[in-house]
Amino acid sequence: MANKSFSLFILGGTGDLAKKKLFPSISRLYANGYLQNLDKVYSLARSKQEDWEQVVCQLDAGLGKLCHFIPFDVRDWNSYAELDKVIKDLKGQELIFFLSISPYLFEDAIRNLGKLLRNYTNPRKIVIEKPFGFDLKSAQKLNDLLYRYFIEEEIYRIDHFLGKDTVQNIFSLRFSNTIFEGIWNRNFIDHVQIVALEKVGVEGRGEFYDKVGAIRDMLQNHMLQMLAFIAMEPPAYMSEKFIRDEKVKVLKNTHIQKLIRGRYEGYLQDVGVDGSTTETFVCAQVSVDNFRWHEVPFYLMTGKALAEKLTQITIVLKEIPQSFTKLLECRPHQNRISFQMAPQSKLTITFELRPPTGRFMACPVETSMEYLFPSEFQEAYEVLLLDVVEGDQSLFIRGDEIEALWEVVMPYLDQKDTPFIYPKGIKIPKPAEDFLKTSEKSWFL
Ligand code: BG6
Repeated sequence: MANKSFSLFILGGTGDLAKKKLFPSISRLYANGYLQNLDKVYSLARSKQEDWEQVVCQLDAGLGKLCHFIPFDVRDWNSYAELDKVIKDLKGQELIFFLSISPYLFEDAIRNLGKLLRNYTNPRKIVIEKPFGFDLKSAQKLNDLLYRYFIEEEIYRIDHFLGKDTVQNIFSLRFSNTIFEGIWNRNFIDHVQIVALEKVGVEGRGEFYDKVGAIRDMLQNHMLQMLAFIAMEPPAYMSEKFIRDEKVKVLKNTHIQKLIRGRYEGYLQDVGVDGSTTETFVCAQVSVDNFRWHEVPFYLMTGKALAEKLTQITIVLKEIPQSFTKLLECRPHQNRISFQMAPQSKLTITFELRPPTGRFMACPVETSMEYLFPSEFQEAYEVLLLDVVEGDQSLFIRGDEIEALWEVVMPYLDQKDTPFIYPKGIKIPKPAEDFLKTSEKSWFL
């Protein structure tokens, strides 16, 4: 637990993310005794104080007493003069700034906070939500701006998927069990499926979403992060530097081979943008061009307005040799290791065993072992906020990593052709089924 006193400043402190995720997470962490050195929580926002009071009244009572509101306009220097008065009284404390604001305001916030903080020697951290830039160039520009005022050790770029239990368990399964490391390569693995299917459409975020689309919203970050955890080499040491070095290395060897884009029926009415070519669904075949993964395809699929929420990674192992298929007079299922993040947080391993009533060489039946990941934290944000407080950057995206992520998707951004249309509420669109069929594979959903 961090033993120095600190204060939190949430820019956009009455916004959706703050209301739905940040404050509930801070409140639970506080109630469970994780934030004993927290001095104050300041919500900085343009909205009315009453909006903020509504947020605060739902918090743990003890925490509520530490919360304050500062009327704030990210673009207006006068707001920083007010903030200055507050910071003056926080001598020696660590200051943690959380940018829970529109990405269009990131630059102003970084520049103005950076200038203000030059007058202070307090330790500081800046936490930045996604999207970090809109392409490689803008991400580089944002990195350059950050480095004018902060050092990498003070910068926490968030991808909330990395706070999920199951994602962290990929690491544990791979690197704490000898039985898996030996098979984690092209000799045993046929292909990998990474899916993030959502039931929700774009809902109230239409205006923002239309400028982003599924490639920027999900593929560039969450999907590629999951891929990196599956595909990276074991780090020499379990420390943030070595973990992030390995992720960057694997991302630099990652390339999209082919990609299709879709859009749900009724999207244009939802966002009210005529002629938009933004996608709400994307399916890609990705290669990781190194010795371990040579010719092992990674299939990534994500989309909105589908039948059910399902976030899952499935490692599909190779088939048994053909001659044994003949001996068994059947084709056993391929073994699978699957990491599910939603609807449940669990690991499933499927394998083939003799049916209880069968003959000695009867066709085996698929059997599975399931392990639910019990967590003491309800939200990925709880894990990540605690890491920020404790100064552990292992689960945050480093500057060179964010650029490597953008490099992977760059050739596929801003396509001008209209995506294929799929009906709302279907399991997956037909073109996505066909995507795998051509390689005689099918999705495990
Ligand atoms: C966000 C995306 O980063 O992740 C959303 O912007 C998406 O569009 C969400 O719905 C999915 O996260 P989770 O944790 O609900 O699977």
